[in-house]
Amino acid sequence: MPKLIVANWKDYLMPRQSAVLARRISNFKSPISKSRIVICPGFLALNEVAKTVRGTQIKIGAQDVWPESRGAFTGEIGLDDLAELGVEYVLIGHSERRQYQGESDVLVNKKLRATLQAGMKPILCVGESWSMRKQGAAQKYVNKQLRLGLKGVTPKDLQRVVVAYEPIWAIGTGRPAKPEDAEVMHAFIRATLSKLSFVQRNRTKLSFSGLSILYGGSVNGENAGAFLKTKGVDGLLVGGASTKAEELKRILFSC
Ligand code: PGA
Repeated sequence: MPKLIVANWKDYLMPRQSAVLARRISNFKSPISKSRIVICPGFLALNEVAKTVRGTQIKIGAQDVWPESRGAFTGEIGLDDLAELGVEYVLIGHSERRQYQGESDVLVNKKLRATLQAGMKPILCVGESWSMRKQGAAQKYVNKQLRLGLKGVTPKDLQRVVVAYEPIWAIGTGRPAKPEDAEVMHAFIRATLSKLSFVQRNRTKLSFSGLSILYGGSVNGENAGAFLKTKGVDGLLVGGASTKAEELKRILFSC
């Protein structure tokens, strides 16, 4: 399956800058053809960016969602809003939201299930802090995030989930994980998913062919190739580097 490259523009760009960048990216015809690319702009730029990439192979993602269709939820963006704009992917449980908005695993699970129910693909973000890694507790923590985040998901729906392993200490620090450490964690995530109770019960019916596990955290044009060659890495979740057209082009060329 082609590698999945997800660009998370966070709140780095203003709406007009986002539209300009989207136009530049939609003109990179050749490198894009080998990979699947998803752009997650800020909410204010979603409409414009979605219009810009319509008709190309670029898909649109949202950086978050409120787990209801719509209603009296002041300041929130519901699932119907995203659906109307043609959003196909939604980042769920990014560590910045867990940290700054205090998002719990329970809310993450609610958002993930609502996204699936609305027919979109959730990208569940998991990853440990540096102190957890130092204490040897990284896998235990990621295991908990996966189990709670995926609670109640049907085996069929699990095939539409993307998991992004993003160690918190690697995000925006210029200090990525070593590809060999990512390989170990990706294998652990795959093994954990296959041990989920509902997967065990449906073992014969379930194939993991559709499920992608991405690496994220200080990915750039220089190191993307090494991660993409790493066993078990199905793609990348890229923050800062994805807001620079030439850097993103290098990443796409590495696929
Ligand atoms: P970064 O962010 O590539 O800037 O480290 C990745 C992310 O948070 O998704």
